[in-house]
Amino acid sequence: MDVLLVGSGGREHAIAWKLAQSRNLGKLYTAPGNPGTAQCGENVPIAVTEIEKLVDFARQNSIGLAVVGPEAPLAAGVVDALEQVGIKAFGPSAQAAQLEADKAFAKQLMRSSAISTAEGRIFDRFSEAKAYIASRDEPVVVKAAGLAQGKGVIVCDDPADGILAAEKIMCDKVFGSAGDRVIVEDKLLGEEASILAFVDGRNIYVMESSQDHKPIGDGDIGPNTGGMGAYSPAPVVTDALMDRISREVLVPIVDGMNRNGTPYRGVLYAGLMMTGGGPRVLEFNVRFGDPETQPILMRLKSDLLEVFLAVCDCKLDEVTLEWDQRPAVCVVMASGGYPGDYEKGKKITGLAEAGRVKDVTVFHAGTAMQGGDIVTSGGRVLGVTALGSTVEKAQARAYEAVDMINFDGAYCRRDIAAKAIKAHR
Ligand code: AMP
Ligand code: GLY
Repeated sequence: MDVLLVGSGGREHAIAWKLAQSRNLGKLYTAPGNPGTAQCGENVPIAVTEIEKLVDFARQNSIGLAVVGPEAPLAAGVVDALEQVGIKAFGPSAQAAQLEADKAFAKQLMRSSAISTAEGRIFDRFSEAKAYIASRDEPVVVKAAGLAQGKGVIVCDDPADGILAAEKIMCDKVFGSAGDRVIVEDKLLGEEASILAFVDGRNIYVMESSQDHKPIGDGDIGPNTGGMGAYSPAPVVTDALMDRISREVLVPIVDGMNRNGTPYRGVLYAGLMMTGGGPRVLEFNVRFGDPETQPILMRLKSDLLEVFLAVCDCKLDEVTLEWDQRPAVCVVMASGGYPGDYEKGKKITGLAEAGRVKDVTVFHAGTAMQGGDIVTSGGRVLGVTALGSTVEKAQARAYEAVDMINFDGAYCRRDIAAKAIKAHR
């Protein structure tokens, strides 16, 4: 079967790498892809939001399955458009994608489904948001309601900073129209984890747990990024907690989506805070996480194409997934300056050597080909991912490979997986 994968990040390279191992894969096309996906199939120069062009390409090339990585094309209705012309597509409909694209929708659905989340209020006017924040002398989290490339959340320990954050989002429009509406939430304390599940509308298959590292600096200091590294499994998610997350979060949200007339199909990602009072939802995403996908798919032994098809055919109950018991650690190498401004076009060396380290895969994210060289072309450039018999060994291998790779201004956190190692002590 020929497959069209939509996206160009590290997550998509990991999906392409895994699909390329599938028994039933014919040709793999990635639109627009990156030099990493080009190693797994053929890249096609169509942007992720050029929906008509994607549909035309899929029809002309007899695509048997389309797989959509990022949230923007999902929210824009790419799955609906493909299905309308009879092409099977993995991912939620535009209406179901509101669960990520509209945080106010998600908050309301969580409330009506009795899912534990931070107390929050929704505001359309800055003056009202300001008055609310000023009335409470507590830390707040201010979130743009719309899509903001994972950067639309500002955690403020001081309410005065909360007011400034709301002003930046609602008045200065730093996230554009995504900030027309904001959610002001209580700040939750605890350790975070990402729980991803395959959902076919009815059945839920929960994948192995993982943990992202959102802030730019070691020790979780500094502004949030798209994610500076991840590992799987996350020891903070014990079996008992996983059970609670299934019962108290995943089952009710999938039921809630059905009740709402927006049935969910695809990967459902719950971002959770493990608080003293149990797991509470920070956000839902309607896709694989990036970089969580890199370590998760390194650990998946089963055929990913089969799982995607089972989801599309509402037969998830007929598949069982096998996982490598070894942990995996992914260290993101980023361009100097990210998540602020950064330069592009820096030549990357050492990729081949790093890729030869045992049980290491170097996933490309923001890279491009330039005159025979691989150069940087984005904030998050590479996701260097390693398996190991222990999390310490996986971490050591990942950094061994990272240290073989060079580009001008390369930056990575040096403490990815430190929390998991501490948990084992
Ligand atoms: P989100 O995109 O909603 O997951 O938010 C991005 C990051 O902001 C999360 O991964 C958390 O680190 C942080 N965050 C979001 N909401 C809260 C909250 N209510 N309390 C504490 N931290 C939060
Ligand atoms: N790693 C966070 C995300 O994919 O949104």
